[in-house]
Amino acid sequence: MPLLIRNGRIITATDDYHADIFAAADTVTRIDKSIDPKSCPAGTEVIDAKDKYVFPGFIDPHVHIYLPFMGTYAKDTWETAGRAALVGGTTTLIEMICPGKTDQPMEAFETWLSKAKGVAPCDFTFHMGVTRFDGEAEKQFREIVKRGIRSFKVFLAYKGALGVDDRELYHTLKLAAELGVVVTAHCENETLVDERQKELLGDKKSGPEWHEPSRPVQVEAEGVNHLMTFAELTGAEVYIVHTSCKEAVEAAQRGIARGVKAHIEVVLPHLLLDQSYTQKDGFQGAKYVMSPPLRDRSQLPHMWDVLRSRTISTVATDHAPFDFETQKVMGKDAFTKIPNGIPSVENRADLLFTHGVAGNRIDLHTFVDAVSTRAARIFGLKGKGTVAVGSDADLVVYDPAYRGKISAKTHHMATDYNAFEGWEQKGRASVVAVRGAIMAKDGKFVGKLGTGRLVPRGG
Ligand code: URP
Ligand code: ZN
Ligand code: ZN
Repeated sequence: MPLLIRNGRIITATDDYHADIFAAADTVTRIDKSIDPKSCPAGTEVIDAKDKYVFPGFIDPHVHIYLPFMGTYAKDTWETAGRAALVGGTTTLIEMICPGKTDQPMEAFETWLSKAKGVAPCDFTFHMGVTRFDGEAEKQFREIVKRGIRSFKVFLAYKGALGVDDRELYHTLKLAAELGVVVTAHCENETLVDERQKELLGDKKSGPEWHEPSRPVQVEAEGVNHLMTFAELTGAEVYIVHTSCKEAVEAAQRGIARGVKAHIEVVLPHLLLDQSYTQKDGFQGAKYVMSPPLRDRSQLPHMWDVLRSRTISTVATDHAPFDFETQKVMGKDAFTKIPNGIPSVENRADLLFTHGVAGNRIDLHTFVDAVSTRAARIFGLKGKGTVAVGSDADLVVYDPAYRGKISAKTHHMATDYNAFEGWEQKGRASVVAVRGAIMAKDGKFVGKLGTGRLVPRGG
């Protein structure tokens, strides 16, 4: 159905103006100071965006939905995560395909694709996880890239599970440089983590509060420096996921200064939460165990500073949803067994708007750049990331006057807890459209499942 959005204030990564937007079908076909509804085809849905912003659909470039991990499976499906994303204004998700070390990459690609296809209500694509690199796997990676998956994912952490060794890292980066694809990387020194975990557990330090000391900032900075060295020698373009601290950002900046083509991501928990959350009584701290871990509170202002200066390219979530009651408790006797992850795909943009824009930490353009535009550019998402004639009609009519509270009782994610329970929300997506179709309104999913598409990617 054609869509006309009237009287809105359009905000992109660079522009700010009042205009009407018309989408005849999937794409924006007209933007004008004023578009008379009578000039639109019969059946056009008309939305009044007076006193509201119109943003490009948000893109979360780092989520886990189907994820076999740490002896269990992440809780969400494309149905639950897709609904949650859309209610929060996120119209495109990039999920990581995480095959086990002995799995065939092509089979993993088909599995992950089959979970999304026909179910996802939002658009989607993937980063192909490289958890093993040999001749057989390489052939399949080339094929997967040909099928439009133009980014890889490597873990320098999770020793013996998903992590790659240096030989594998080197050859993954060489292949990526040859094919012109971006390599996203989780950077922590896996050996240091492993040894420190053993020491802490040996000293009977087994609670969630010991997760951070097992992987302190130096461990992450070393991981980033390591990646930078390998990227420098191979010429690969890299994207550092969930950078949590000044030390890691600085290691990335040193690489960039040497000419490494690198992008830095921060995730919502590292902007808003700190290590003290893992110290909550009654094992509640397990809800806040993720890797890299939540850091000392003194890190937060620095992370906001580098976001404001656009040293950080994107704000993602690393949405990794595990229930508290049945999954996080697997680590009751040892923090090393707590499934790592904090769910937040639904809350990313609202909390970034609340604490960033309404909190005067970032301006509207930085907000749009970080939650949408830059991810579209880095990962070559065709038609996404801006509001312009010819771009996909992925549009968020955003009401900055809305006030509400976050709660697991009302969220759409499948988890039994919300890490931001009771937090105030200033602003909400009042209308969310994916390629012209309205999918969410005022906190409710109103769309159809299965309408999401695999996003075409450019080089
Ligand atoms: O704690 C995290 N980050 N869990 C998800 C897996 C990953 O490392 O991205
Ligand atoms: Zn990670
Ligand atoms: Zn992740």
